[in-house]
Amino acid sequence: SSQGSSPAIAHVYRGTFVHSTPHTALQILEDALLGVDTEGKIAFIGKGEELNKLSQSCGFSPSEVIQLAQHEFFMPGMVDTHIHAPQYSYAGTALDLPLLQWLNTYTFPVESRFKDLEFARSVYTQVVKRTLRNGTTTACYFATIHTDASLLLGKITNDFGQRALVGKVCMDINNAVKHYKETSEESQEETCRWYPLVKPVVTPRFALSCSADLLEQLGAIAKNNNLHIQSHISETIEEVNVVKKLFPDSESYTDVYLKHNLLTDKTVMAHGCHLTDEELALFRETGASLSHCPNSNISLCSGMLNVRNVLNHKVKLGLGTDVAGGYSASMLDAVRRTLDTSKVLTIQEPDYCTLSFEEVFRLATLGGSQALSMDDHTGNFEVGKDFDALRVNVAAPEGPIDLVQVDEPKVCDDRNIVEVYVAGRKVVPFE
Ligand code: GUN
Ligand code: FE
Repeated sequence: SSQGSSPAIAHVYRGTFVHSTPHTALQILEDALLGVDTEGKIAFIGKGEELNKLSQSCGFSPSEVIQLAQHEFFMPGMVDTHIHAPQYSYAGTALDLPLLQWLNTYTFPVESRFKDLEFARSVYTQVVKRTLRNGTTTACYFATIHTDASLLLGKITNDFGQRALVGKVCMDINNAVKHYKETSEESQEETCRWYPLVKPVVTPRFALSCSADLLEQLGAIAKNNNLHIQSHISETIEEVNVVKKLFPDSESYTDVYLKHNLLTDKTVMAHGCHLTDEELALFRETGASLSHCPNSNISLCSGMLNVRNVLNHKVKLGLGTDVAGGYSASMLDAVRRTLDTSKVLTIQEPDYCTLSFEEVFRLATLGGSQALSMDDHTGNFEVGKDFDALRVNVAAPEGPIDLVQVDEPKVCDDRNIVEVYVAGRKVVPFE
C-alpha cells in the first residue's frame, strides 16, 4: 500500500454497541458497524445500512462482517483503577478489623510471602485470569515491595493480554511486621530498577508507610521520568488523624502528597472518603484523580465517598475493587456497590442526587480511563482508540436470566461476558 495509508481492516462487527461519552452517560448504537484495523484500533464506526458504502471506502468484504445476535452487545472493557494483586490470595476473608489493624494483622504478613516467586506466580496468574474473565481490560495494580515479583506481575499481565499499570509498593516504615519494609535508599534504588521494565506506576503505599524523605524522592523520580503515581488517601478517620499528627506542618492529608510532588495529572489516589472540599479543589487544580472503592469502604467500615460531590468538583473519578479490602475482584460488583452507597447516602439525606446506573457505567469505563490518563486511547468506542471491548450475551445459557432485560441492557456477571478484547486481540476465552 502507498505511504501514509491507514492500516488494513482486520475485523468488522455489526450489532448493538453501548458506551459512554463525556456528554452522554450511556449511548446505545443500534445496528452499528465497527471496524478494527490490524493494529487493534477502531478504524470506523457507521450504521448497518451503510454496509456497502463502507465496505468499498474502507476496504473489507461484506461477507467478513461478524454479526452479533439480537441478545448480544459490545461495551467498552472496564477499568479497575485500584486493585492489590497479592491480596487476591485472601479475598473474601479477614474483613473483621478496621484498616490499620487489618493491614498489620492480615495484609503485611501475606504480602511478605511474595518474596517467593513461585507463590507470586501462582497468585498473580489467578488474579489476572479472574479479572480478565470479569471484564477488566485495564487494571492499575499494587504489587508488593518485591521488585522481581512485581516484574513477574507485569509479565503475566502481558502474557494474558491485560492492559495494566503495575506498582512496586514502596514503604520504609512498618512497625507491625518489621521485616516487611525497605530502607528509603533500597526503595528508591529498586523503584529505579523496576520502572523501565514495565508500564510503571510509582507507588508510595500511603503516608503512614513512608518517611518524608521517601515521599520526596519518589515524587522526584516520578517527576523526572513523567511517571504515573498511585497511593491511598483519607480512607478512614483514624488514618487521617494519625497523618495529621505525623505531618504537623501540612494543612491536610492532600497537602502531604502535594508538598512531595505526588499530586499530578498522572496521579490516582484510592478512597478519599474523608476529603474536604478544599482538598477536592486541590485535586481539581492538579488534575489528580480519585479511585472510588465502595466494596472496601463498606467492608472495612472505612466511610462512604460522596461521589456526587466529587463530580460536582470536577475531579476525575474511576472505580476500583480494592481487593482484598474489597472482597470482590469484579468491576460489576464495584458498579453495584457504587449504586448501593449512593442510595444509602440518599436514605440518610433524601435530597441527595442519587447516581444513575448510566453515570456509574461511565465511571466503570470512560471514568476509569480518564482517571488513569489513558482516555486518549481507551475508555469508549471512538475512531482512533484501541478496541478494548466486552462481548456481552444477556441470554447466556448459564446466566441468571431473570436479572436480564434485552431492551435495557444489563450485564450480570462473568457468565454473560462471552468474549473480551484488548487492543483488538481476543484475550477471553483464553487460548
Ligand atoms: N492503605 C494502605 N495500604 C492499604 C491496603 O493495602 N489496602 C487498603 N484498602 N488501604 C490501604
Ligand atoms: Fe487499596
